[in-house]
Amino acid sequence: MRDMGTRVFIAKDNQLSPAEWEKTVSVLRNGGLVAFPTETVYGLGGDATDPHAARKIYQAKGRPSDNPLIVHIADFSQLEDIVAETPEKARTLAQRFWPGPLTLILKKNGRIPLETTGGLDTVAVRMPDHPLARTLLKKSGVMIAAPSANTSGRPSPTTAAHVLEDLDGRVDVIVDGGAVGIGIESTILDLTEDPPMILRPGFLTKEALCEAIGEVRTDPGLCKDTAERPKAPGMRYRHYAPRAELTLIEGDSREVVAAINALAKNAEAHGRRVGILATEGTKDSYRAGEAVSVGNREDEAEVARHLYSVLRRFDNLGVDVIYSESFDDSGLGQAVMNRLLKAAGHRRIDARDIRIEDMP
Ligand code: TXA
Ligand code: MG
Repeated sequence: MRDMGTRVFIAKDNQLSPAEWEKTVSVLRNGGLVAFPTETVYGLGGDATDPHAARKIYQAKGRPSDNPLIVHIADFSQLEDIVAETPEKARTLAQRFWPGPLTLILKKNGRIPLETTGGLDTVAVRMPDHPLARTLLKKSGVMIAAPSANTSGRPSPTTAAHVLEDLDGRVDVIVDGGAVGIGIESTILDLTEDPPMILRPGFLTKEALCEAIGEVRTDPGLCKDTAERPKAPGMRYRHYAPRAELTLIEGDSREVVAAINALAKNAEAHGRRVGILATEGTKDSYRAGEAVSVGNREDEAEVARHLYSVLRRFDNLGVDVIYSESFDDSGLGQAVMNRLLKAAGHRRIDARDIRIEDMP
C-alpha cells in the first residue's frame, strides 16, 4: 500500500469506528490533513497552530498562500485563546448563531501563525455545526484550520466524492459523512470594522445579523460595478469556476427560457456542447442543450444546496458553455447570486437583448 494513499472512512449515523477515529485524530495531531464534512461544505483540515500543516493545505489545494484559512473551534473558550480581544458583538453572535454557518474576523494574538492567516494580523474563526466536525474537534483537541476541500478554483465540495475527485492522494484521510445540509459556505463577518462588514455573503443572511447586533454593512468591493477590491483575499479570485464558460441570463422567467433556448440552439449549431442551469419549473421547457435542475426556484435553500454539485456535473458532462437562469438577489439568494456571478466571471445578459430572429 502506498504511504501517500488517501483513506476514506465512511461514517454511519455520524460515527466512525474507534480505530478510524484513532487514525483520524492521530493524522491531525501529527501535522497531516483530514477532509471532513461541516454543515456548509467539506473542509480540508490541519492543525491551525502548525505552520507546516498550513503549508500542506495550500499545497494540496494549489491555493495562493496569501489567502487565509478559517480556524474551526469546538467551544467559545478556544476563540478567547487566539484573539487579542473579544468584542461584545462576538459574544452576542456566538450565543445566537454558533455552532453554525457564521465566520467572524477578529484581531489575533500570537497563537495562530501567520502561515494560517495568510500573513494577516486578523483571524477567521467559526464553530461548525456538524456532528462529525464537532466530534473531530473535541476528540483531537486541535483547532482545525480548514478551507473548502476543493482544488483552488473549482466549486466547493458538498460530498466526499467531490473531495476525492479533487484531492485523491493529497489528503491523508477523508471522513465521508454523506451530502452536506447547506451546500454553500458560511457568511464571513468582519468585526474589526465598525459597523461590522460582511466580507462574503453566505447561508446566514444580512437580515439575521442585523437583527442580532444592529447595523451591518456589506463590503463595497463585492458589488459588480466597482473598482474597489474585496477585503477577503479569497473573494478577489475567480472562484467556483466550472470548466465551461458560464453566462447568466436575467429577466422574466418566460423570456429567460426563450433566450436560453435560442442561445443553446445557436451554440449547438456551432458544434458546442451546452449545459443549462435550470429549475424544476423550467427544466422541461428546454429544447436544446443538457438542462440540469438546481431545484425549486421558490426554495432558496434547495437551490443553494444543489448549486455546486450541478456546476460539477457540467464539468463531468464535458459541456463547452453553460447558460444559467438567475435568482432573486435578496436573503439567501444573495449568496447564490454571488457564487454564480463569480463562476460567470460576471458575464450576464438581459433576456430581452437576445434577438431570437437574428440567430442563424
Ligand atoms: O463554510 C465555510 O466557511 C467553509 C467550511 C469548510 O468551514 N470554509 C471555507 O473556507 O469556505 P475557504 O478557505 O474556502 O474560504 C475562506 C474565506 C476566503 O475568502 C478568505 O480569503 C477569507 O475567508 N478569510 C479568511 N481569513 C480572513 C481574514 N483574516 N480576513 C479576511 N478574510 C479572510
Ligand atoms: Mg473555498
